[in-house]
Amino acid sequence: MAAQLHALWPGPARRYLEPFVGGGSMLPGRPCAAAVAGDLQAELVALWEAIRDRPDGVADHYARCWHDRAARGAVVYDEVRARFNADRDGLDLLVLTRWCVNGLVRFNRQGAFNNSLHHTRPGIHPDRLTAVLGAWSRAVADVTFVAGDYRATLADAGPGDVVFLDPPYRHTRGRYQAEGFDPDGLFATLDRLSSRGVPWILTWDGRAGDRTYPGGVPTELFAGRLALTTGHSPFPRLMKTSLDPVAESVFTSFAL
Ligand SMILES: C[S@@+](CC[C@H](N)C(=O)[O-])C[C@H]1O[C@@H](n2cnc3c(N)ncnc32)[C@H](O)[C@@H]1O
Repeated sequence: MAAQLHALWPGPARRYLEPFVGGGSMLPGRPCAAAVAGDLQAELVALWEAIRDRPDGVADHYARCWHDRAARGAVVYDEVRARFNADRDGLDLLVLTRWCVNGLVRFNRQGAFNNSLHHTRPGIHPDRLTAVLGAWSRAVADVTFVAGDYRATLADAGPGDVVFLDPPYRHTRGRYQAEGFDPDGLFATLDRLSSRGVPWILTWDGRAGDRTYPGGVPTELFAGRLALTTGHSPFPRLMKTSLDPVAESVFTSFAL
């Protein structure tokens, strides 16, 4: 979807702001090099900074864990997870996300990572990951990463900036973080961006099969809206039931 979404920007940009950066799939195709990317998950932001500044160190850490697991087995996953939950090191978060069941990032109410090991998969080979990390390091060389709430990341947004927002869906309470996500704060932020003349694109509610996830974005807040078909939901696929086509709703501050 990234290319389709970036094709929507109404004009050139001097700075790209992305306050819910997550796995960063929008970053490589962003409309200008200068960028600020934020996330509430501080360990994820630390991982992004490490990938940008010392990809070889990240690759070495992963390779050590991978070879340790090859030698000693599943217990290594438990050790990495316990260490992450104690020390909150972003490099261990990378290992967990590569090895956990279906790559699903889950935290319990206490904020501890609680997904378990995907026993039947060895995890990406270190040689392959080293190449991937090198490519990402180059792609995010000009990105400033910040840990914090999206409102702080957007505090100084002004003319020349463009903003892409991919917040947690309303129905994903607890999937990324223990507390839910307050949509009213998001709506107020969108309104403020528009009043400062900052173009924004929001992906939020959507449709999977016959289930709809209405985000309820107030109609006066956006000027453009479209539905992008994004493929198939991983959740029924995991349950080995039908393949549900997924459409993502896209809202824009400008007319399309
Ligand atoms: C739907 S994901 C973003 C996925 C991203 N587009 C990608 O390519 O991977 C939402 C992200 O928002 C973060 N998040 C949740 N609440 C937040 C908040 N209040 N402020 C900033 N980030 C938040 C989560 O940690 C998660 O990484």
